[in-house]
Amino acid sequence: MAYIRSGPIQNRAIWHTTDRINSFNMGFSVHWILLAAFSCLLCMGGEVRCDCTETKMQIQGGFYTLTKQLERGSLLTYRCPEGFYPYPATSRLCQPNGTWLPPPKRFTPQRCRIVECPDPSVLESGNVSPLLEKYFVNNVTTYECYSGYSLRGSESRTCLPNGKWNGSTPICSHDSGNNCADPGIPAGASREGSIFGIDDTVKYSCIGKLFLVGSSERVCQENGQWTGIEPACYFKHTYDTPLEVSAVFGSAITNSLTTLQSPDDTQEGRSIRISKNGTLNIYIAVDISESIEEKYFRHARDAVIKLIRKISSFSVTPNYEIIFFSSDIYEVVSILDFWDGKIQLDDVMTKLSNFEIEDRNTGTDLNLVLNTFLERMGIIKQQVGVDSFKDHRHVLLLFTDGAYNMGGSPAPTVEKIKNMVYMDPTSNPESKYREDYLDIYIFAIGAEIFDDDLQPLTIGLGERHYFRMDDIKNLEETFDKMIDEEEVKGLCGLHKDYETANQRDMYPWWAFLHVKTGATSKNCLGSLVTRQFILTAAHCLPYGVLPEDVTVELGGITEKGVKTFRLHPEYNISRKEKEGVKEFYDYDVALIQLKNDVPIDSTVRPICIPCTQETSDALKLVGQSTCKQQEQLLLKNHLESLSFLTKSGNAVRRKDVNAKLGDNRDECIRHALEAEGITTVKPEDAVTDNFLCSGGLIPFRDHIACRGDSGGAVFKNYQFRTIQVAVVSWGTKELCNSGNVIDSNEVSRDFHINLFRVVPFLRSILEDKDQDDFVPLTFLTD
Ligand SMILES: *[C@@H]1O[C@H](CO)[C@@H](O)[C@H](O)[C@H]1NC(C)=O
Ligand SMILES: *[C@@H]1O[C@H](CO)[C@@H](O)[C@H](O)[C@H]1NC(C)=O
Ligand SMILES: *[C@@H]1O[C@H](CO)[C@@H](O)[C@H](O)[C@H]1NC(C)=O
Ligand SMILES: *[C@@H]1O[C@H](CO)[C@@H](O)[C@H](O)[C@H]1NC(C)=O
Ligand SMILES: *[C@@H]1O[C@H](CO)[C@@H](O)[C@H](O)[C@H]1NC(C)=O
Repeated sequence: MAYIRSGPIQNRAIWHTTDRINSFNMGFSVHWILLAAFSCLLCMGGEVRCDCTETKMQIQGGFYTLTKQLERGSLLTYRCPEGFYPYPATSRLCQPNGTWLPPPKRFTPQRCRIVECPDPSVLESGNVSPLLEKYFVNNVTTYECYSGYSLRGSESRTCLPNGKWNGSTPICSHDSGNNCADPGIPAGASREGSIFGIDDTVKYSCIGKLFLVGSSERVCQENGQWTGIEPACYFKHTYDTPLEVSAVFGSAITNSLTTLQSPDDTQEGRSIRISKNGTLNIYIAVDISESIEEKYFRHARDAVIKLIRKISSFSVTPNYEIIFFSSDIYEVVSILDFWDGKIQLDDVMTKLSNFEIEDRNTGTDLNLVLNTFLERMGIIKQQVGVDSFKDHRHVLLLFTDGAYNMGGSPAPTVEKIKNMVYMDPTSNPESKYREDYLDIYIFAIGAEIFDDDLQPLTIGLGERHYFRMDDIKNLEETFDKMIDEEEVKGLCGLHKDYETANQRDMYPWWAFLHVKTGATSKNCLGSLVTRQFILTAAHCLPYGVLPEDVTVELGGITEKGVKTFRLHPEYNISRKEKEGVKEFYDYDVALIQLKNDVPIDSTVRPICIPCTQETSDALKLVGQSTCKQQEQLLLKNHLESLSFLTKSGNAVRRKDVNAKLGDNRDECIRHALEAEGITTVKPEDAVTDNFLCSGGLIPFRDHIACRGDSGGAVFKNYQFRTIQVAVVSWGTKELCNSGNVIDSNEVSRDFHINLFRVVPFLRSILEDKDQDDFVPLTFLTD
């Protein structure tokens, strides 16, 4: 097989970006055609270089994007609505002489074709209905077995827009006393072999234009399981959805990260993924070639950041090697620096976030990347010694479309990596066991993927290691969805923050409080701080209110089961009446205890609060950390940007403010004197040191709190986690009602109880170890 796509870049399938979008339906401007034609005329007059034209480039039912306008090297990528794919070409490359490769076909106009799913009528010993020549998106099929056979898998399947059937392969089998169960025949496949005893082999191939992803050969093992993974037949237009990838890859990586031996995980014949003392090395390489634009690069970078953040919420701290590559490699983080103790996770994030590439080279050299990984492994092995190296697991994650055109085939290098990790499989009887120590995952991304070259490079037992995605944009979502919620139940402040995330996933801790106060009622916000406690403002629970008067809504749950609540013991609204502060809100915090623990999932989860061990973990403070350190991290700037929420219908909206700290504080709190009912001349009388101050126009216009926002969390997102630093308490002006996001005016100010000042109160309740009702939080000792 010719791995080398030598010579010019023409063969290179390049990542698509949305530089310019031309819609067929809109028609493109005449101006452009003229311009393009003109530049080509010039070209014919002796110029070597020539721009491509947009003539005959239209796609019926879709549009296209260009990476570099009509210059040579520009990649035109066709786009179709969901459930359709571009045909006959997926993309075209502008060549130096001004023609497109592949050229448009005269008799096959470019159009959006409806997505087809592989033929499901390969079922043995059963009926498939309806029987159609071809199956398209939204076609539903049902499966029934002949009498004497029983059905495993889905009874009904729908053809999905990504070219796959949902559910699982239907299999009609009867008990034959075979050692292994009938492994079935996936849609679009044919199978050789129908005896399923120990060591019997089945072989799969795909029909027609379909190609196989997964194991083409499986052997029945003594334990009754088939080796490998179920194959699937893909069209070139078949893609994995972010959800699928995150489910499969997520469970795989979770396995690697939880350090635990899972005794029931025998299905894939897996044993321990990593011993407690073991080390996990993660090597990441992202393909960015010259034609890939800034936007693509940013998506790739953000996805890697997301992945690392996800991983960092587990108990294992891996070492990372991170490379972006084209014909050169750009090493963002060297794994060797981890060994030398030169670098920590935080530095990795910073380096990644700040990483820019100025001039990218042409070409793609995947082999160079793998050789670099191999070299790094060799150095680690040398440094730690062979015995120690045995405890190292290596996970390689490659993001590419596989169109490597330089450096030769990476396959031999993959073999060398295998030998390095398996410790010379020919002479090492342990090598079978050592297969668990190396995984190579490939995320094939792009309009044009070179599956045949890429698939053989994957390595690893059990799960799938090859994924096919059509857009880098999906990657971030993939990694975000990847965490197994079960694994991270306890993690405070974990949330999703990509563009399309649903609101509850972004703010899983927000609670809505409805408090009956005699004939009237009052709405407030609160935050879930443990599975049983809601933090809110004391003034939301005025004198006379009983637990049964309080209703708490958390996502879809309306919890009437309020067991009790406690206000801060120092809270006393009339304490300073005589000193000219009619309503005094110092210590305006309260904790509401629910009768039961709320169930935690991605939409309901506690926020992190100051001075707890969990918050130190969230802030990645290592070793013995202190409350002070947390405060220094969270409220370090003289203008600290913070947020709080306002309830708008059933949703919330975010308000952004800048807490005025340090030298800015005096000017901020001075405006307290303009509030009604305040006659003192000393702002500190009303606004004690326990308050954070926000609002005003200078230097930035803040949002202002509205009626109904009280009790809500004033929070700060730190990487992947949310930490509450204050509680919305009171303000100088009543400018709006709940749901409005309104700018502050010159004099309006809001005051929020700084949680760092009320830790003893929080602690006295939440850390109470002399009770069996709830799991206490762990507070820091100083
Ligand atoms: C343009 O260049 C390509 C490859 O270099 C060649 O195959 C094609 O025939 C050329 N077309 C014209 C019109 O010169
Ligand atoms: C299958 O899908 C095609 C394309 O949408 C449609 O024309 C056809 O009627 C469908 N067939 C069945 C049996 O649903
Ligand atoms: C497949 O998708 C259809 C439509 O979304 C749904 O009704 C059906 O329950 C799904 N079937 C399986 C087995 O997931
Ligand atoms: C892990 O390390 C500890 C202490 O260094 C040692 O006692 C223990 O035996 C090690 N366990 C394994 C499985 O290597
Ligand atoms: C609140 O403060 C006022 C004024 O100092 C005092 O008279 C009153 O007893 C206090 N109330 C409580 C409940 O402590």
